[in-house]
Amino acid sequence: MLLETDALPLVDMAFMNEVHQEEVHRINALFEMLLAYESEPTEENALKMDALFEAWYTHTLSHFEGEEVKMRESGFPPYAMHKAEHDRVVGEIRTLMEAWKETREPKPLKIYLIEILPRWLLTHIETMDTVTARFLKRGISPCGI
Ligand SMILES: [Fe+2]
Ligand SMILES: [Fe+2]
Repeated sequence: MLLETDALPLVDMAFMNEVHQEEVHRINALFEMLLAYESEPTEENALKMDALFEAWYTHTLSHFEGEEVKMRESGFPPYAMHKAEHDRVVGEIRTLMEAWKETREPKPLKIYLIEILPRWLLTHIETMDTVTARFLKRGISPCGI
């Protein structure tokens, strides 16, 4: 298992905590499949990777979109900053997925999943998501606006 759901920081909005748990489940499922593909790089396993990759990507889009809708509805002042970070990560994942489908080379994804994504996810939840959830719950803005 790459990420433990217990290790996820909790924020002040239940819908965000739920979507973060689901995010971790999908990342772990893709990582397990990647390890299986590495030891047995068959077409069947490649197709399973495709399906789990697509499922994770789609879930990430709805995870981010769900937060963005709430931020827009509530007039969250640093919306643009939070959205830009989501867009950047969606771009990274899409690039990795396209490269995977073209090359069937698992290494770039493996490096991303081990070295970059978990640290990013934890930091993002601890910072931008925490501040956003606090604002959604209590109307407290990080910049006092
Ligand atoms: Fe989030
Ligand atoms: Fe976020």
